[in-house]
Amino acid sequence: MWQWWLAAGALIAAVVWFSGSEFVRGGSTFSAGPMSASHAVIGQRCELCHVPVVKATGFSPSLGMRRKVPDSACLSCHNVAAHHPAMTTESPSCGSCHREHVGAMHLAAVADQGCTQCHASLTTSSGVLTVAAKISSFATNHPEFRELRVVSGTDRAAAFALKFSHEAHLKANLRGPHGVQTLECVSCHQPALNADGRGSRGMAPVAFEKSCRSCHSLEFDTHVKGEAPHGTPAEVRAYVARSIGDFAQAHPQVVAEEIRSWPAEAPLPGRAGMASPKTQAEWIANRTDRAEAILWRGKCALCHRDLNPESRATLQPAAPALPQIEPIKQPLRWYGSAVFSHPAHQAVECAECHTKAIASNSGADVLMPSIATCRRCHDGQSSPQGPPVKAGHAESGCFLCHFYHGPDGAIRGGVLKAEVAAR
Ligand code: HEC
Ligand code: HEC
Ligand code: HEC
Ligand code: HEC
Ligand code: HEC
Ligand code: HEC
Ligand code: HEC
Ligand code: HEC
Ligand code: HEC
Ligand code: HEC
Repeated sequence: MWQWWLAAGALIAAVVWFSGSEFVRGGSTFSAGPMSASHAVIGQRCELCHVPVVKATGFSPSLGMRRKVPDSACLSCHNVAAHHPAMTTESPSCGSCHREHVGAMHLAAVADQGCTQCHASLTTSSGVLTVAAKISSFATNHPEFRELRVVSGTDRAAAFALKFSHEAHLKANLRGPHGVQTLECVSCHQPALNADGRGSRGMAPVAFEKSCRSCHSLEFDTHVKGEAPHGTPAEVRAYVARSIGDFAQAHPQVVAEEIRSWPAEAPLPGRAGMASPKTQAEWIANRTDRAEAILWRGKCALCHRDLNPESRATLQPAAPALPQIEPIKQPLRWYGSAVFSHPAHQAVECAECHTKAIASNSGADVLMPSIATCRRCHDGQSSPQGPPVKAGHAESGCFLCHFYHGPDGAIRGGVLKAEVAAR
């Protein structure tokens, strides 16, 4: 009999211990492992994901917990977009990509398998592929980046427009206004700033005022102290006319003296009548024409192409045509379907990735790195679920560079912690 009581006692003790500890520690007795850091805020409220089989109603408690987490449970907190409209199969379940119960690991660090189940042999609903059909890892058969595959030299010349030689400017001991100087990449390229004033992932467009004016001044007349503004031709013309007119008004005796001793010289092409000014008005017109010729034909033309054939022909005496500056495009983002971060690569020299910059002598050259450059470090030797990253190797999982939920992560799935507390 005592044996029976002992066995029964042990059973009762076990049940008491089990449910007691369950009471004290929440659901962790059954847990498959620690929650991710992002979901730690959910704490022990297992039922938010493992939706009960029978929901609590009135006084009756909820019963049972589902082993599989339905997508609807995740979607009750997260609002994520579909991956691509051309998918032929359902998206895999949320939990199959975002592995829970594996500890503090970054939840969005998704194993490649989540992507390659489709991308290793891709099909689309339209039957037409717009991207490579077989991608099974970044290190082996990921295609070369689109920019380097499809953009021809002529497209780029049209897009970029600025005449510029990196080679000429990266030579040592360049002539500058204050003696010789040697330019570095950062003389012209600085990180772009976000609205909050902190550095973003990309580089800011090159700015004339900051990076070029010190050596390429826009002076146009020895009498005028200032330089032309770097604006539209109309703004420049207005400034030139105003400053020369102001000078004439302030110094009539200088103008009179110059008219008297005007040297006999070859007239400007197309402006024969203006060769030797007789009045102050003619003097002003003559100086303005000269200034414009210096700017349009010399200074601006060093860097810009003029799209207006009339201004490129002779200067018209009646209404001189203004040049039309070819629009400049300096894209902030080159990749349409991947992300990149300059700050994450601060330890790497610019020219290690942009290898072609130093020898480039045309603004139309593509200076973007090829995939071989990235593979030096992102070489597939590590994976989010695998062993820790070895020195000299960087993470190579698809999640590192791509968004899954909609293009460009337009739909971010994060919810506020306060919202969870309120549930
Ligand atoms: C943020 C959502 C979330 C919360 C909260 C959560 N889990 Fe899970 N759990 C998952 C996901 C996702 C899986 C993987 C199963 C799947 O594919 O649906 C899983 C799997 C499990 C498994 C293994 C099931 C199997 O198939 O082997 C157990 C056991 C488990 N969870 C227990 C718990 C317990 C106990 C809690 C409360 C402490 C909890 N979970 C809280 C998301 C969650
Ligand atoms: C009760 C609400 C709730 C549920 C249910 C929930 N999450 Fe979350 N999730 C959160 C909160 C809160 C965060 C942290 C967001 C933040 O910090 O901005 C988060 C963060 C994440 C992140 C971002 C992780 C990172 O490191 O950037 C992913 C991915 C994620 N959840 C996936 C899931 C998946 C998959 C499920 C279903 C298995 C799920 N969540 C269920 C509330 C929830
Ligand atoms: C259910 C199948 C499926 C899964 C899983 C999947 N994809 Fe896709 N993905 C597609 C389809 C279909 C397209 C469209 C291809 C096309 O238009 O030719 C696509 C397109 C893309 C593109 C190109 C987008 C563009 O238009 O430029 C990228 C990048 C991409 N996927 C990355 C990923 C990553 C990273 C993962 C894993 C996190 C992933 N995909 C998982 C089916 C899938
Ligand atoms: C180190 C960064 C990186 C990793 C890791 C990476 N990609 Fe890419 N991927 C890129 C870049 C950059 C592009 C070019 C994007 C563009 O031109 O808009 C690209 C392009 C693509 C495209 C479009 C291809 C095309 O034909 O134009 C697909 C699809 C794609 N990647 C899928 C994947 C998949 C699947 C994985 C994981 C096996 C992966 N990528 C891993 C950086 C990466
Ligand atoms: C340190 C002084 C310095 C700075 C700053 C500078 N340049 Fe130059 N630039 C020169 C010198 C010197 C030459 C003549 C080089 C030669 O002929 O080898 C030159 C020549 C040029 C030329 C004509 C030759 C060629 O490159 O095709 C262009 C166009 C030009 N610069 C554009 C720019 C632009 C745009 C910037 C600003 C982003 C800039 N420069 C900043 C010194 C400078
Ligand atoms: C040393 C090279 C250089 C010279 C000389 C130069 N520019 Fe520029 N210009 C640039 C650069 C670089 C940009 C793009 C960045 C910026 O706006 O600062 C630019 C942009 C412009 C733009 C804007 C174009 C657009 O599509 O956004 C106009 C207009 C312009 N320049 C007019 C002029 C005029 C007029 C002159 C002569 C008075 C001139 N520039 C002289 C280098 C130059
Ligand atoms: C690890 C390789 C790597 C290094 C190092 C690197 N870049 Fe880049 N750079 C890239 C890639 C990739 C892009 C295209 C990024 C995109 O489209 O978002 C880019 C884009 C750019 C652009 C075009 C504008 C932009 O942000 O897309 C400029 C300018 C540039 N880099 C200058 C520099 C300078 C200056 C340095 C050194 C301070 C540097 N890069 C270091 C890889 C690199
Ligand atoms: C004197 C100023 C100057 C210096 C110094 C300079 N750049 Fe640039 N860079 C420019 C200008 C102007 C452009 C835009 C016109 C063009 O594409 O040629 C540009 C464009 C770029 C681009 C994007 C455009 C493309 O065609 O791919 C990259 C990348 C770049 N530079 C990298 C570098 C690197 C790396 C260095 C240092 C080794 C460097 N630059 C030094 C002025 C400069
Ligand atoms: C010299 C080694 C090296 C090269 C070359 C390199 N990377 Fe990286 N990359 C790293 C390391 C290390 C990290 C992790 C940095 C960190 O801790 O944030 C990283 C991080 C990244 C990230 C994640 C950035 C973030 O904000 O989390 C992306 C995306 C990336 N690299 C893309 C590229 C691409 C695309 C190329 C080729 C153009 C490239 N890398 C070339 C070493 C490299
Ligand atoms: C094929 C793999 C895959 C599937 C399936 C998947 N995700 Fe993701 N998810 C990713 C990757 C990769 C990222 C990181 C890149 C990004 O933000 O798009 C991510 C990011 C997220 C984020 C964080 C976004 C942020 O703000 O940083 C949330 C939240 C999320 N997923 C929720 C979900 C939910 C909910 C589901 C199910 C409806 C789901 N995911 C299904 C791969 C996947």
